[in-house]
Amino acid sequence: MSGNPILAGVIGFPIQHSKSPFLHGYWLKRFRIRGHYVPFAISPENLERGLAALNQLGFSGVNVTIPHKSAVLELATSVSDLAARIGAANTLTFDGRGGFHADNTDCYGFLKNVCDAAPEWSAEERPALVVGAGGASRAIVAGLVTEGCTEIRVANRTRSRAEDLRRHFGDSVVVVDWQDLSSATENTGLIINTTSLGMNGGPELTIDLVKAPSDVVVTDIVYTPLNTPFLRLARSRGLKTVDGLGMLLHQAVPGFERWFGKTPTVDEELRQIILDLS
Ligand code: ATR
Repeated sequence: MSGNPILAGVIGFPIQHSKSPFLHGYWLKRFRIRGHYVPFAISPENLERGLAALNQLGFSGVNVTIPHKSAVLELATSVSDLAARIGAANTLTFDGRGGFHADNTDCYGFLKNVCDAAPEWSAEERPALVVGAGGASRAIVAGLVTEGCTEIRVANRTRSRAEDLRRHFGDSVVVVDWQDLSSATENTGLIINTTSLGMNGGPELTIDLVKAPSDVVVTDIVYTPLNTPFLRLARSRGLKTVDGLGMLLHQAVPGFERWFGKTPTVDEELRQIILDLS
């Protein structure tokens, strides 16, 4: 064995709940790569110095989580078109000279998860209904626009945030009143919960799905629990569902590939390891 171990990690504040070290650790072991993936708690006031230090120490790159996803764009030497459009980055690659490239792979993770589990779904065919207008929703709407979805209905408890998305992404975004969620399911090809509703111990998302087409695909970004009340409701109506864990796993693939030089796969064993952490 020669050369220094490859180093990568994840920065956030707090960071102890991040599952990324476990999934990158699984792939490092699988490929027998001499490398490490380390979680770092970096507070907002230390963000610039922290990134400079990791760069100087020879890290290949880092994932970025709450609350730094937008702030890193200001510090990057280059930003991918997608990250700029979303207004957030989750995957940074250091250039070894003090600079870094910022990219967003949440969009890829979302699309890959849905397309793998529901290959029959096509973004171009029918409207999509996006519930929520926060950070996760932004990445998903960007993904749907990229895939050619011409009508993206967005409903958010705070309507003004959905209107922000329309201003940002253009006319393919149609703002729907929170009270009209159920009728907005009509004629959809995909329904996505991007809110935190349905997370363990919290309030649930309840949408009457009677008007939803029988072949609609229903998905959730919440994966704790894996079977959210919303997905259970969809399944009880005989609708196809895709759980949110795959999005988390797939969004990690491009970073691992860039930093460690191998293309990892998302398999059942990895899903189980991550589920067992919860
Ligand atoms: P993230 O980056 O994970 O999307 P966020 O930007 O805080 O986090 O967005 C959370 C989303 O969940 C928002 O759409 C939020 O609605 P508001 O914009 O009205 O806050 C939604 N959300 C959270 N709790 C909710 C609740 N109890 N009822 C309805 N929507 C809720």
